[in-house]
Amino acid sequence: MQTTGPQPAGAKKEYYVSTPIYYVNDAPHLGHAYTTVAGDVLSRWHRQRGEKVWFLTGTDEHGQKIMRTADANGVSPQEWCDKLVEEAWKPLWEHLEIANDDFIRTTEKRHTDRVQEFVQDLYDKGEIYKGGYEGPYCVGCEEYKLPGELLDGEGDFAGQKLCPVHKKPVEILKEENYFFKLSEYGDKLLARYEANPDFIQPESARNEVVNFVRQGLQDLSISRSTFDWGVPVPWDEKHVIYVWVDALLNYATAVGYNENPAKFESTFPANVHLVGKDILRFHAIIWPAMLMAQGLPLPGKVAANGWLMVGGEKMSKSNLTGIKPQDLTSHFGVDAYRWYFLRAIAFGQDGSFSWEDFSARYTSELANDYGNLASRVAAMVGKYFGGELPASAADGEAEQAIHGGLAKAVAEADRKIGEDLDFQGGILAIFDFVKQVNGYITEQEPWKVAKDTSDEGKARLATILYTAAESLRAVAVLLNPIMPDTSQKLWDSLGAEASLGTLADQRVQDAGTWGRLPAGMTVTKGAVLFPRLEEKPTA
Ligand code: ME8
Ligand code: MG
Repeated sequence: MQTTGPQPAGAKKEYYVSTPIYYVNDAPHLGHAYTTVAGDVLSRWHRQRGEKVWFLTGTDEHGQKIMRTADANGVSPQEWCDKLVEEAWKPLWEHLEIANDDFIRTTEKRHTDRVQEFVQDLYDKGEIYKGGYEGPYCVGCEEYKLPGELLDGEGDFAGQKLCPVHKKPVEILKEENYFFKLSEYGDKLLARYEANPDFIQPESARNEVVNFVRQGLQDLSISRSTFDWGVPVPWDEKHVIYVWVDALLNYATAVGYNENPAKFESTFPANVHLVGKDILRFHAIIWPAMLMAQGLPLPGKVAANGWLMVGGEKMSKSNLTGIKPQDLTSHFGVDAYRWYFLRAIAFGQDGSFSWEDFSARYTSELANDYGNLASRVAAMVGKYFGGELPASAADGEAEQAIHGGLAKAVAEADRKIGEDLDFQGGILAIFDFVKQVNGYITEQEPWKVAKDTSDEGKARLATILYTAAESLRAVAVLLNPIMPDTSQKLWDSLGAEASLGTLADQRVQDAGTWGRLPAGMTVTKGAVLFPRLEEKPTA
C-alpha cells in the first residue's frame, strides 16, 4: 500500500482551514454556524491577502447517534443523512455566504476507502491490537468517559451517572475491539505542545489538554462491533471503525490523502483546525497521535471556540433558544449576522446571545457609525461635487491623523484576525477607525466649509471629502471578509472598481496605503447599508 510520507520542505502552498464536520442527526443551529462563520472569515481574510486558501467543511454521518436518529424516523441512515445534508446543512451555508472550497461527507467513497487504508496501515505497523474494554459511553459525544468525570443524576435520572456535556445517562459498554496504542504518545505530544506554544488556542484550552495528557493516556478503542453503521475494519469486517477515527480522517481524505499526492502535499496539514471546546481533546490529542503514528505532519493550530450559551447552559440541539440562524438573518440580514457573534464574543470564551444586544449593536455600530458615514460621504460628494470624487488639495494635521489611524487599523486587524484569531479585536480595530473618521467629519464640518465659495474653501472641502472617501475605500476592503455583501455595496457606491478592480482583488497589505482611490471616480449614493430595524417579531 502506498503511504504518503513526510512532505518535502516548501511543498505546502495552501493556507488550509477546517471546521468540524458536524453530526447530521439534526439541522444546524446557531452554535454550528458560529464556528463555520469564523472559519469563513478567517479563510476570506487570507484570500484577501492574496494567499491560496483551502477552506473545508462537511458532515459526520456514521455512528450510533445517527443510526438511532434514522431508526427513530423510520428511514435508513443513508437516507436520513442525504436528506439532512441537502435540505438543511448545505442550504444554510449557502445562505450565510460560506465560501467553502469543498464539502466532505464521511459516507462518500473517496473518504471511506482512504479511512480503511489508513487504519490498515496502522494495523500493519503494529499500532493497533485486539483487546477488551468495559466502561461508560456517551452516545451524544460518541465517546467512552472516565468514571471520574461523570455527574450524579437527579430527578428522573436519580441513581444514574450522567455525561458532563450532555447531562444524559451514559451506557455501560463491554466489547472486544481493536485498540490504538495512544498511551505511547503522551510524551511526544507533551514535547510538541512545549515546542509549539501556539498549537492549542486559547491558553485555557492548552492548559486543559496539557493537564489531561500529563495524567497519562489510555489506549483508544478504535472499533465497535455491536452495530454496523460505519466503515468496516478492513481485516475484520465484523467491526466498524470508531466514528471519531473515521471523522478526524476527513481532514486528510478531503485533500487527497493516498489519492492525489500533488494536492495533498500542497494543502496538508491544516494551518488551523477550528473546533468547539467540546471536541478539543479529539483534535489536540488523538488526531496528532494518529498522524505521528503514520509519520505525517501535524496541523499548525487547533483553535477552540467557547460555547454560545442559553440560560447558563451550552446551546445544543436539545436545548435551543428556539431561534434559528434564519430567524436572525431575516431580521438583521446575513452580513450583520456574520459580524455579530464575532464582534460580541471574545473568540475562545463562552458568550450569551441576546436579541436585545444584537439590536443595540446593530443600530449603534453598523447603522449609525458605519452605515451613516458611508451614506453621508456619498451624499456630500453628490451635493458639492456632482458625484465626482475631488482630489485632495493639501493634507494637514487632521488628515495625517487619519492616515496614521488607517495604517494602525490595517496592521492590527491583519494581526488579530489573520494570525491570532482574535476576531473581536480585529473588528474593533476597524470600527475604531470608522469612529475616528466620523470624528474627523464632525470636527471639520464640511457643510460649513461648503458655504465658503472661495478657491481656498473649495480646496478644503475637496480635501475633507477625499479623505473620508479614501478611508471608506480601505474600510470596504477590511470588512469584505466579514460582511461581503455590504462591502460590495460600498465598493460600488465609491465607483472604485473602474480604477482599482474588483473588491476581491484588493490586498490587505495595500489597504493602508494612502491615496489609492483616484480623483474623478463617480461616487453614487447606493442602497442603505444597514436599514433601520423593523420591530422585533413576536412569537
Ligand atoms: O462534535 N457554541 O459534531 P457536532 C459554540 N461530528 N459552538 C458550538 C455550539 C455552541 N453552543 N454547539 C455546537 C461533532 N458548536 C463531531 C465533530 S470533527 C472531526 C467531528 C459547534 O455536530 C462547535 O464547533 O456535535 C462544536 O465543536 C461543534 O459545533 C460540534 O458539532
Ligand atoms: Mg455535539
